[in-house]
Amino acid sequence: MIKAVVFDAYGTLFDVGSAARRVAGEAGRGAFANVWEQVARDWRLKQLQYSWIRALTGAHTDFWTVTGNALDWALEAAGLQGDDALREALLALYWELEAYPEVPGMLSALHETGMTTAILSNGSVQMLDAAVESAGLAGLLDAVLSVEAVGIFKPDHRVYGLVGQEFGTRPEQVLFVSSNGWDVAGATGYGFQSVWVNRAGEPVDRLPWQPGQVMGDLAGIPGLLGIS
Ligand code: LAC
Repeated sequence: MIKAVVFDAYGTLFDVGSAARRVAGEAGRGAFANVWEQVARDWRLKQLQYSWIRALTGAHTDFWTVTGNALDWALEAAGLQGDDALREALLALYWELEAYPEVPGMLSALHETGMTTAILSNGSVQMLDAAVESAGLAGLLDAVLSVEAVGIFKPDHRVYGLVGQEFGTRPEQVLFVSSNGWDVAGATGYGFQSVWVNRAGEPVDRLPWQPGQVMGDLAGIPGLLGIS
């Protein structure tokens, strides 16, 4: 019996990719308009790599710093280092993210039945609060849990342990939902039930833990729990 549905933030509830596309479409963005997809991909990849390396080596810093470091790498790789206005515009995206279109309805459906809902994210408390606020999700979540409470990034099990500390749930009573295959693997290894939201139609990660369910977006989550 599921007692809490817990969501990853970036790429799962919040649409980071379309935010970068919006900046690329702004007047005067010049070279960035041609390379934004590569920059967005490198930015995300480096952001995650840096988070894993910092977790493995005990060199924790907050996700905002990691996000800025990753963007600097991605901009330099595209020959756009030194464009401070672009850097600021891209970083500002994180403070005004939109949710994917199905998110408010899906969370409302869960919320109306009394299901406990939460975010569990690498993001810092300030980053997450800003995104939740700008996407209008504040009233639909029982908790916004940041890794900063334990000072290490996913997929360290201490992060997934925050859910039980908050709600008193056992791991198998939690449905964890993420668009990151590695995050789903980590959470499944911890003992959560899991859904991988495979928006891009990617192959399943070759790791020891497989997602419990795979979905194309989040609209089917209430149905999975017998909520119409
Ligand atoms: C998060 C990243 C991994 O929100 O998407 O934790």
